[in-house]
Amino acid sequence: MVIKSAEYLISSPDWEKCPAADKPEYAFIGRSNVGKSSLINMLMNQQKLAKTSGTPGKTQLINHFLINKSWYIVDLPGYGFAKVSQSQRRNWEQMIENYLRKRPNLVNVFVLIDSRHTPQKLDLDFVNQLGKWEIPFQLVFTKADKTTQLETSRNVKAFLNKMRETWQFLPAHHVTSTVKKMGRDNILAFIDEMNAR
Ligand code: GTP
Ligand code: MG
Repeated sequence: MVIKSAEYLISSPDWEKCPAADKPEYAFIGRSNVGKSSLINMLMNQQKLAKTSGTPGKTQLINHFLINKSWYIVDLPGYGFAKVSQSQRRNWEQMIENYLRKRPNLVNVFVLIDSRHTPQKLDLDFVNQLGKWEIPFQLVFTKADKTTQLETSRNVKAFLNKMRETWQFLPAHHVTSTVKKMGRDNILAFIDEMNAR
């Protein structure tokens, strides 16, 4: 897919304030600091479309971007940020649950997982929750440049094996690095295919 245009539209505090649900939508979620905003920038071939930061918790709202005037990308705030209060966490959970379950044009959620780590309970809990809600998703293992290929593939396999304990079918997965521009074509090809349906 050729990206002809990518524009920031709006940041919304809840699903009801999001733009009209009249275009296919793809959301990016995952642990705080896992690289959601950076991945969106890589996919769009832009440096500063989505705001990135070395400090976790940068993205706080539901951020919509309009791509090629015909579909939406959504950058979501991350989970698992240690420095938030109980009530902030509950707000996040409510906002995300409502958005994921009520947004009618949501085609797919990309769940980002840091490829440097062995399976984390937080990520497994999150994908299991998506399963219970019957929300389609794919896995994206990020920051592949930060460790060896062997370590990455070990961690990917371990995560899928963990899922296999409870899941009958495993989701598709991607391995990405924004530094090496890795994984871009496959993600965009999938979106292209879904948009054509
Ligand atoms: P929150 O919005 O705070 O939840 O974070 P986020 O998931 O949007 O992460 P963000 O894109 O802001 O990236 C966090 C940090 O990881 C930044 O310092 C990025 O430069 C770095 N980063 C993201 N992706 C990669 C990658 O593929 N490789 C490397 N080496 N660093 C990356
Ligand atoms: Mg972010």
